[in-house]
Formats: sequence, structure tokens, C-alpha cells
Amino acid sequence: MSNTTQKKLFIQTLGCAMNVRDSEHIIAELKQKEDYELTDKMEDADLILINTCSVREKPVHKLFSEVGSFEKVKKSGAKIGVCGCTASHLGSEIFKRAPYVDFVLGARNVSKISQAVNTPKFISTDINHDESEYAFGEFRSSPYKSHINISIGCDKKCTYCIVPHTRGDEISIPANLILNEVKKAADGGAKEIFLLGQNVNNYGKRFSASHEKMDFSDLLVKISEVNGVERIRFTSPHPLHMDDKFLEVFVNNPKICKSMHMPLQSGNTKVLREMKRGYTKEWFLDRALKLRSMCPDVSISTDIIVAFPGETDAEFEDTMDVLERVRFEQIFSFKYSPRPLTKAAEFTNQIPDDIASARLTRLQSRHNEILDEITASQKDKILEVYFEELRANSAVAGRSFNNFLVQVDGSEELLGKTLKVKITNPKRMVLYGELVG
Ligand code: SAH
Ligand code: SF4
Ligand code: F3S
Repeated sequence: MSNTTQKKLFIQTLGCAMNVRDSEHIIAELKQKEDYELTDKMEDADLILINTCSVREKPVHKLFSEVGSFEKVKKSGAKIGVCGCTASHLGSEIFKRAPYVDFVLGARNVSKISQAVNTPKFISTDINHDESEYAFGEFRSSPYKSHINISIGCDKKCTYCIVPHTRGDEISIPANLILNEVKKAADGGAKEIFLLGQNVNNYGKRFSASHEKMDFSDLLVKISEVNGVERIRFTSPHPLHMDDKFLEVFVNNPKICKSMHMPLQSGNTKVLREMKRGYTKEWFLDRALKLRSMCPDVSISTDIIVAFPGETDAEFEDTMDVLERVRFEQIFSFKYSPRPLTKAAEFTNQIPDDIASARLTRLQSRHNEILDEITASQKDKILEVYFEELRANSAVAGRSFNNFLVQVDGSEELLGKTLKVKITNPKRMVLYGELVG
């Protein structure tokens, strides 16, 4: 309940879905233990938090410009806290560069948020801290879908990636705790469950204590049996662990949404080896094309890094070749960004920025052409859409089972419903349509 004396929390979340979920944990703790309520006005807040990302250099720069602007507009006495992956890797350096920051809380330490707000210059950035069985309070930013962590950290240590240094070793959360969370979410009305981890399909390799063993495919089946769950999504799976059992469960379970994220990174086997991805170009193509043949409606998204140290023009062509053959519905593409603590940052054959930019432009332009063809082919299709968002001009949007964003004219009463939509006007970012039946 809101009253005038209640303390107010402003929180800004950068980075990936794991940060979104960590922010929900932080909000839950602060609401329940410290009596905060959320505000979207920074100048009214008693506590301003930024949940940060370190994956590329740009978001790290963003952190310092953002906290600088917080300091200028905050009301007197308000506290500023820096949480998340950049907190993990820069630690007390943040106090040095931004002395007005009141506390620093790493990505694996969010359960200490109460202590952080009550202790001057609190800092906790231990990546060996085990939060895998920590019972977080309840806060969900959407009533229609629930993000649920199934594992934390990452053991892969891809040579370009800072995440293992910000989130620590990979630990799976016991299946019974995950299933309890799923039941709670479904009982609360969330029909969509979004499972989170850096390598979700490596689930079950290591628990923090002895637990009933279960792999990701079996976990998916168990979750699909929970009453009230209608849709299951997950991110990120790793191409290396896409074995036949996983593909079969994915394709045949009617509750698993038919959209797969397959982070390619590079289409060249030598570059993949230097990245330490563990698979080859051929393995990736075999998995992606097998998936397309087993499930013609599937949409496949990917992450691609261009200009990894030493990447030649010919090696980059392999990435273009995989793009051509898989025809991804969505790509997230980046220029390689050297990160502290990673092996690749020490490689001496870094690629000049103009070459990196040209490769990125070429990749993105070709993807846009492919996407235009995919988009046009959606015209007149009937898609099942789960509506979850009100949009401007009396419109409502949601996702199709295979993850296209679809928008129709309508109002609140469509929210939380799954309805059939005929696509009348497909655009690159949104497929516009009309309700049918
Ligand atoms: N666990 C996920 C990735 C999480 S990081 C996976 O294995 O796919 C999200 C994406 O950021 C990565 O897939 C990668 O494409 C990109 N990324 C990570 N480190 C990067 C770096 N140093 N430079 C550029 N992009 C990077
Ligand atoms: Fe980073 Fe690789 Fe782990 Fe993904 S699998 S989080 S890219 S180290
Ligand atoms: Fe960024 Fe950390 Fe996620 S570095 S991408 S917020 S795991």
C-alpha cells in the first residue's frame, strides 16, 4: 500500500534477461524488507539503483555517465547503488571513479540488497557466493509471463566473454525449487514461463548440494506438466548441447514455444576454436537445418560477433555463409569488444575498427534483406498470439508461438488471452493483423 512516508525506489536495468530477473529480486527484497515502493521519477527517489552490464565496453561507459546524471538530479539524502555485472568486475574502482555512489553489489550478491542499503559504502562482489538456493521474495514486472532462473553463472569461458568473471561458476538450481516457482507463477496467472540461464541446456551438470539429477530436456517436460502453464520459452541455450533428445523434446512438446536462440558467434571453425565455443561450422549447420526440417514453423535467432581477433575476410565469409543457409529470423550482431580478464583481449591480432564496421554493416544489410523476405511471407498467415502489452492508438501487442511480435487494434480486455490473428500488414519489426474467429 502506498503512503506519503513510504520510501521510493528508482531502478534502471541494463543488459540481459538475467539482469531483468535480478532487478525483480532486488525490488521484491526492498518492498518486503525495507518498505520501498517503485517510482519512475528519479528525482522523487530515496534510492536510485542501476543494474549494470559489462559484456561490451559501451555499457560500461554508460554506467559512469548514468550515475553522474543520477547525482545531479537526485533529491538530497537519496542514495545511489550500483548493482550487477559491472559492479562484480570493477568493484571498489566504482567508488573511486564515482565517489557519490553509496554501495556496490555484484551480480551474484543481490540477496544482500537490504544489508547494502543499510551499511555505508557497502561492497559485495564475491562471484563464489552461492545464491542457487536463495529464496527470493515475489515481484514480477509482468502479470502475463514469469522469468525464472534455472542456473546461475557460466563455466564455458569463451575467450571473448566477461560473464564467467561477473557471474562465477555455473550452478543449477534444484528442480523442485524451479517447479515451485513455476507453480506459484502459474497460480498467479502467468501463462508463459521464461527460463533463464547462460547455458540453459547444460542444466543439471552441477548442483550446489546433492539433488535429484535431471537434465534440461526432462526439466522442460516437468514444467510443461504444471497446471496453468501454456507457453515455455528459455534463453540462452548453447549450440554445443543441442543433442537429438533436446531437439525432439523441443519440437514435440506442444507447450514449448517454437523459437530457438542459437548463438552462432562465428561461422568459421577456426575462429570458433579460438573463441573456445566447442562446436564447428558443420555442427551448427547440422543442428539448425535439422531443427528447420523437424519443425518448419520454428524461428531461429542468433548472436554474432564480427572481427574477433585475427578473423580474416575469408573467415568472415563463413559467417555470411551460415547466415545465407540458416536464414535467421532475428540476429543480434556486435563488433568484437575487448574485455578485461578475458583471453582474447590479450591476442595481438586485433582487427582495425573500419574493417569491423564494414563487416557489421554487410552482415546487418544482408540480414535485413532476408528478414524482409521472411516478413513478407507472413502475409495472410494465421498466428496464435498471447497478448501482453498495450500500445499507443488503441492497439494491443503480443508474441506468436514462434516469437513474432504481432499487433492488432484492441484494448485491455485482450491482455492475457491467446487469440488467432490473421496477418494483414507485415512489417519488419511488427506484424499487423486482425483478430479472426
Ligand atoms: N551465454 C550466451 C551469451 C551471453 S552474452 C551465449 O553463450 O550465447 C550475449 C552476447 O554478447 C553473446 O552471445 C555475444 O554475441 C556477445 N558478446 C559477449 N562478449 C562479447 C565481446 N567481448 N564483444 C562483442 N560481443 C560480445
Ligand atoms: Fe559468455 Fe560463452 Fe558463457 Fe555465453 S557460454 S556466457 S558467451 S562464456
Ligand atoms: Fe551483461 Fe551480465 Fe547479462 S555482462 S549480458 S548483464 S550476464
